[in-house]
Amino acid sequence: MKTKLFLIAALTTLASNMVWADGAALYAEKTCVACHGKEGKKPMLPTFPKLAGQNAAYIAQQMLDIRSGARSNSSSAAMKGVMVNPEGDLLVSDADIKELAAYLSKLKP
Ligand code: HEC
Repeated sequence: MKTKLFLIAALTTLASNMVWADGAALYAEKTCVACHGKEGKKPMLPTFPKLAGQNAAYIAQQMLDIRSGARSNSSSAAMKGVMVNPEGDLLVSDADIKELAAYLSKLKP
């Protein structure tokens, strides 16, 4: 019984760390870090947003809207090219967005 509980605890920890690691890896891989800075805390320009600690649902929705063009302004154009190519192929998938939002929302602002 004790072993079983320990195993469940170990697996749960492993699973949550995996989500974390994937989000962090994606954040670097997809070049988010270049504009939003290390751990979403030090944006490249003062007109670019900090992301650390923002609500996951909000982060995900904004990413979807920037990707689709529903959110479009002078600044968002910079990010759109990272999300989707001119042919309309998604460069950041829905699953990636979920991982990134989970990762960023857990960081201390
Ligand atoms: C080329 C620079 C650039 C890159 C790369 C980039 N972004 Fe952005 N991002 C921006 C800018 C600029 C805005 C603000 C757009 C606006 O003013 O509407 C923004 C907005 C956002 C927002 C909305 C924040 C808010 O407070 O509304 C989120 C979330 C976000 N980016 C996440 C990401 C993630 C995750 C990645 C990597 C997949 C990424 N960005 C890559 C420049 C970039």
